[in-house]
Amino acid sequence: MTLENKKILLIIGGGISAYKSLDLIRLLQRKKASVKVVLTKSGKKFVTSLSLSSLSKNKVYEEIFDQKNIGKIDHIALSRWADLILVLPTTANFISKLSKGSADDLASTIILASNKDIFLVPAMNVRMWLHKATQKNLNCLIEYGYKFIGPEDGEMACGEFGKGKMSSPRKILSFLEKFFLRKNLLLKKKIKAIVTTGPTREYIDPVRYISNESSGKQGYEIAMELSRLGIKTTLISGPTNINYSNDIKVQEVVTGDEMLEAVKKKLPTHIAVCAAAVSDFKPLSKNENKIKKYKNLKEIKIKGNVDVLSFLGKNNRYKPKLLVGFSAETENLFENSLKKLEEKHCDLIIANDVSKKNIGFNGDNNEVTIIDKNKKIQKIKKNSKRFVAFLIVKKIVDKFLLNEKSLN
Ligand code: CTP
Repeated sequence: MTLENKKILLIIGGGISAYKSLDLIRLLQRKKASVKVVLTKSGKKFVTSLSLSSLSKNKVYEEIFDQKNIGKIDHIALSRWADLILVLPTTANFISKLSKGSADDLASTIILASNKDIFLVPAMNVRMWLHKATQKNLNCLIEYGYKFIGPEDGEMACGEFGKGKMSSPRKILSFLEKFFLRKNLLLKKKIKAIVTTGPTREYIDPVRYISNESSGKQGYEIAMELSRLGIKTTLISGPTNINYSNDIKVQEVVTGDEMLEAVKKKLPTHIAVCAAAVSDFKPLSKNENKIKKYKNLKEIKIKGNVDVLSFLGKNNRYKPKLLVGFSAETENLFENSLKKLEEKHCDLIIANDVSKKNIGFNGDNNEVTIIDKNKKIQKIKKNSKRFVAFLIVKKIVDKFLLNEKSLN
């Protein structure tokens, strides 16, 4: 059973659909999950602490400062205890609070202090859901990495119709089962991944180099998302300004040659994602000293650089089970990317139109098209690089697990 022994921390928000939490607790208990409940002040108006504790068979937490529990810091202990945090129902007000990073009660403090997957289950009137302020806050939460279940279209408690209805307890349960199934599968298989990112620098002399605009952010977010799923990930990064999190292993390199060597050392690997903008050219040789102006340098002789992705694609011995390339194009995005996918023997290619302003190379947002060997495409609309990484990794993991299944 996928939910057996899983620890779910349920935060009950202040909305009429809070009563459905009772049903969800029963369903989770049947699947042998263990449930602890945090009841917010407004949640209390809809369900009682007594019913929640009777069903969950655990104490219900309400106060951030618990007089009876001096010395125990509930918001830290609870967020570390949980395998997953679920906020049900998530109201417009709670969404607004989270977008600001408020921590003025037990629920919001737990969330701010958490290093776990957090699922929000929104429920509100359709106008409130569609309001620009809510939508703006939602984008912010997506960027922060919160995940959503619903809302759905339907009739609401207020009698109006539209998007805003909370997903049913059964739907939430099936969502959680699928989530843990993927996670368990990946952990069981002890999957390893490498991700290349950032630009490379190809030195002309000790102070001058050939490079490009890549910020390395998209590759970094992909590596973070892979490791959040329990995949043992190494990020091999060219020079960037990123403040790397301690949650992933990062190996910093400077040149294309160094990147290729670092990749070789990590083989074999199950998954490889080449997001780096390796410089295609490098000087024929690096001048030992700074080239002086009076030397009146007229030309720099260059030669082709190593190609990390091609190396992996053509590597008969150690070809990763799933190889993903990126394709930076300013014209004929689909045709040129497909050509790269075939020539470099990838399973997927992420096509990036780098001619568009504010996406791709140096911004915080991206807009990409995922193309597979059968020319099937999945477009990902403009969004934060973190959210784009979430969708790319979802595709990668689904494809990887599907391939594995067909091999078994
Ligand atoms: N790549 C690589 N090593 C290189 C060049 C590219 O590993 N020397 C990888 C990139 O990480 C990316 C893919 O190859 O996954 C495509 O890179 P891109 O820059 O889009 O295309 P190129 O192959 O360099 O071809 P072109 O510059 O002609 O578009």
